[in-house]
Amino acid sequence: MTEEIHKGLAGVVADHTAVSKVNPESNSLLYRGYPVQQLAAELAFEEVALLLWNGELPDAAQKEEFRAFERSHRALDPRVKSAIDLLPLDCHPMDVGRTAVSVLGANHPLSEDSSPEAELTKAKELFAAFPAVVAYDQRRRRQLQLVEPREDLDYSQNFLWMTFGEEAPEEVVDAFRVSMVLYAEHSFNASTFTARVVTSTLADLHSAVTAAIGALKGPLHGGANEAVMHTFEEIGINPAETREDAAARAKAWMEQALAEKRKVMGFGHRVYKSGDSRVPTMKQALDAMVDYYGRGELMGLYDGLEAAMGEAKNILPNLDYPAGPTYHLMGFDTEMFTPLFIAARITGWTAHIAEQRANNALIRPLSAYNGPEERHL
Ligand code: SDX
Repeated sequence: MTEEIHKGLAGVVADHTAVSKVNPESNSLLYRGYPVQQLAAELAFEEVALLLWNGELPDAAQKEEFRAFERSHRALDPRVKSAIDLLPLDCHPMDVGRTAVSVLGANHPLSEDSSPEAELTKAKELFAAFPAVVAYDQRRRRQLQLVEPREDLDYSQNFLWMTFGEEAPEEVVDAFRVSMVLYAEHSFNASTFTARVVTSTLADLHSAVTAAIGALKGPLHGGANEAVMHTFEEIGINPAETREDAAARAKAWMEQALAEKRKVMGFGHRVYKSGDSRVPTMKQALDAMVDYYGRGELMGLYDGLEAAMGEAKNILPNLDYPAGPTYHLMGFDTEMFTPLFIAARITGWTAHIAEQRANNALIRPLSAYNGPEERHL
């Protein structure tokens, strides 16, 4: 019997979801029915998180309640800080994020309580707690002290405050907020599917999120935003260069990379074949940062790579492509980019964990054996 193999599960519809709809035909993305562009234009990230968890936009009272909750759960747990301090400064920040979530789970009094109420509480706490992990990790790598959160700032303002120790300008806060909204959710991507697989065994929420972080780390998935910046660095970033010169160098680099059959991160997508729905909105945020910091030459690199990839292979950028240089301009170290993706995707992962739990079936596909025929010792 020859079984039909769906390598990489490509094209397989594994289950229903009501969290988001990715439509490659119309290049659109809906969170609970709302176009992501509208959400990114009008809502705080905190409101988008509530939408993803609850299925509806929050009313004023729900917004206020979550505002107070989130602001009071931001401080870095001392046990998490101790665990981070044990990790080497040259380990990958994704390892730090993964460890931090694991430590939070091991210490959580509700860790084995999988009721919808307990799960939502844990999701909200994780959402509130994770920025301090990223911010502290970025600072310790620069030999800087922890900065305590501020309750007078919103999520994005406070994230940047804890990372850089100063209040970020409005333009930067807004670009950061937009990136969080765009990164929040994307149906059955590899990390979300990982979270659902772990949940399907009836394991706890922190185990599912920890596993999802492992899946997100790879450069074919979330690690691509970091890899994009490594490409820029490999080509060479020179703020004194003209945009045209940077574009020409980037084009030549891409032609060479494609001739060598290299995979260039930040381009292509398993689902979208004619453009990632989120790229135009993220590109606007990047343009705003380029204007704010006066770094037009970076767009030379950006445009040159995009044009050469388009001409040679007709492969378009994905969200990680504009997100990488945006985070670079904001001042994050390149290795910190994928942990920022974690901070955003905690919302989508935990919404999917709840959905999986509410209508669970163990996820366990079949395999077609192609090893040796039966043999004996
Ligand atoms: C994310 O799934 C999600 O929703 C993920 C995500 C989310 O929000 O959760 O959107 C986030 O993970 C974005 C993707 C980030 N990854 C990268 O940027 C890595 C680079 N991209 C590729 O490796 C690739 O496009 C994938 C992995 C994203 C998708 O790959 P597929 O669908 O398995 O397609 P493929 O690798 O089989 O590629 C098909 C063809 C191949 O050429 P041929 O062998 O047919 O000649 O396109 C080529 C590939 O070599 N190709 C690329 C390429 N992407 C595809 N060639 C060079 N560089 C690339 N980036």
